Amino acid sequence: MMTEKKKVIIDTDPGIDDSLALMLAGKSNNLDILGVTIAAGNVENQQCTQNALDVLHLIERDDIPVYTGATKPLKREPINARETHGSNGIGNVELEHSKRQAKTGALEFLKTTLEQNPGTTLIALGPLTNIALLLEKYPEVKENIKELVLMGGTYKSHGNCSPVAEFNFWFDPDAAKYVFENLNKPITMTGLDVTRKALLTPNYAKLIKNFDTKLADTIYDMTQFYTDFHWDREGVLGCVINDPLAVAQVIDPSICTGINGNVEIITDGPAIGMSMVDTEGILNKEDNCYILTNCDHKRFFKLFMKTLFPEKEIEIDKILDNELYGN
Ligand code: BDR
Ligand code: CA
Repeated sequence: MMTEKKKVIIDTDPGIDDSLALMLAGKSNNLDILGVTIAAGNVENQQCTQNALDVLHLIERDDIPVYTGATKPLKREPINARETHGSNGIGNVELEHSKRQAKTGALEFLKTTLEQNPGTTLIALGPLTNIALLLEKYPEVKENIKELVLMGGTYKSHGNCSPVAEFNFWFDPDAAKYVFENLNKPITMTGLDVTRKALLTPNYAKLIKNFDTKLADTIYDMTQFYTDFHWDREGVLGCVINDPLAVAQVIDPSICTGINGNVEIITDGPAIGMSMVDTEGILNKEDNCYILTNCDHKRFFKLFMKTLFPEKEIEIDKILDNELYGN
């Protein structure tokens, strides 16, 4: 029996891991992607937009509309993440350019598409600027949002921009705060607690390379920059591919599990960008988030690789299940 595809809109700032997330979503048989909206984040909006168009072109999904959105955070000055993602945001890999142009007007696209598609899931993989602006300008559309599954924040794991702040919330803390306070729909926070468990190890990267397709080579090349960054910065061998985990969680909500709680975003001072999580009712505030804390990383990587390389399904199962060689 065919299950109905989930309607999703992806808001993103590609980004190496955003690009992997677009590949996963675009090749999944479980998702109906109504559109992609772009926020500034890892690099400037224009470059993020070009990257989204080119990644969708690579996976032959030129049918998915792409809309440019916010060019800067609500209040702060933008600070890019070229050090992590390379000068072009995708690990300095040169992709064949799509012949398409993105459209302008992400907010109007979001409004109209949500009006026409009640029950849509929003997947946010970058700073929450576009989502905050949407809720502020068109608060009525939230009735049509089923849920927001986002990559951002952290609970017990340390931050990646300060000891307590994760990049997406740190880049635009005011937007993140606005969304947590105003959405009033289920929010799933795929933060660093779980994404750090989804480490694309050198073994996994080489396995993908061995699949020997254009897509495999691109993933391998893009993630080399990211891997070098992780080694230099954190002494970690491999790279944490955050954003595809949020997409995977929409495809299969049992990949990660978590805990309900209240999340408040700190917007100034030394803890700016922190997602302060209260799961004990200490603040007497209502739960506004499902915070993911555990991740079955092997199931995630199986889903990721099998969706991207369905022709290699048997090999992927065989290799990832082979405990003998320490997977
Ligand atoms: C997040 O920040 C960005 O650099 C990544 O694309 C991801 O969305 C991780 O903190
Ligand atoms: Ca991102």
